Amino acid sequence: MQIIAHRGASGEYPENTLLAIEQAIVQGADAIEIDVFAVQGELLVIHDHHLERTTNGTGSIYQYSLAGLMQLDAGQGQRIPTLWQVLELTHGKCWLNIELKGNNTVAPLLALLDKAEQQLGFDCQQLLISSFNHHLLAVIKLKRPDLKLGALTASLPVDYAAFASQLQAYSVNCDVSFINQAMVDDAKARGLKVYVYTVDQPDDIRRLQEYGVDGIFCNYPARSRALTIKK
Ligand code: G3P
Ligand code: CA
Repeated sequence: MQIIAHRGASGEYPENTLLAIEQAIVQGADAIEIDVFAVQGELLVIHDHHLERTTNGTGSIYQYSLAGLMQLDAGQGQRIPTLWQVLELTHGKCWLNIELKGNNTVAPLLALLDKAEQQLGFDCQQLLISSFNHHLLAVIKLKRPDLKLGALTASLPVDYAAFASQLQAYSVNCDVSFINQAMVDDAKARGLKVYVYTVDQPDDIRRLQEYGVDGIFCNYPARSRALTIKK
């Protein structure tokens, strides 16, 4: 079962920062999950579109200039990273799950991936692009059918994982509160990977490993790794 560091090693370091991502890599995470908004065409790594919870800014990211956003403190002296910085940092080290939070993310994402392939030799098979906004995923599938897509759900869908199959997704990314064995079995029968968020409790980690899920999003990657049963 793979350990996906949720917003980096965000239990111990400021979430969605280069420090949290570096530390997750040091802790041996298989993958890093980050959240991305587009601001004036630049992809920024931040979870909320309001700044108060994770930075010393106030109000919406959309009220700021790009230069103003880049000067904010995101904790422990960290700045809000760009997606480009995260691609450079994780390149060749672990796979990366980019969760699209805004509606205007697809065009800048695809342009940035083209640039990363050309300038960094970045392997886009190391990416999983996910979103709760399945329309965005459908658009990406049309434009870049090679990219792996993660269909996020915050509930137990009535059709189990059929919705993710229809999107031709690579994975279904489920809330730990709703996942059950039947959904895992249904997803696997459809050839989908199953990733579950956000999992830090030992009993949940053991239960999900019994279900046979493929990976868990954890705030404490080293601790979660230690709790997974080696098979
Ligand atoms: O991608 C899994 C998880 O991160 C989705 O929820 O709110 O933490 O972005 P959230
Ligand atoms: Ca997320």
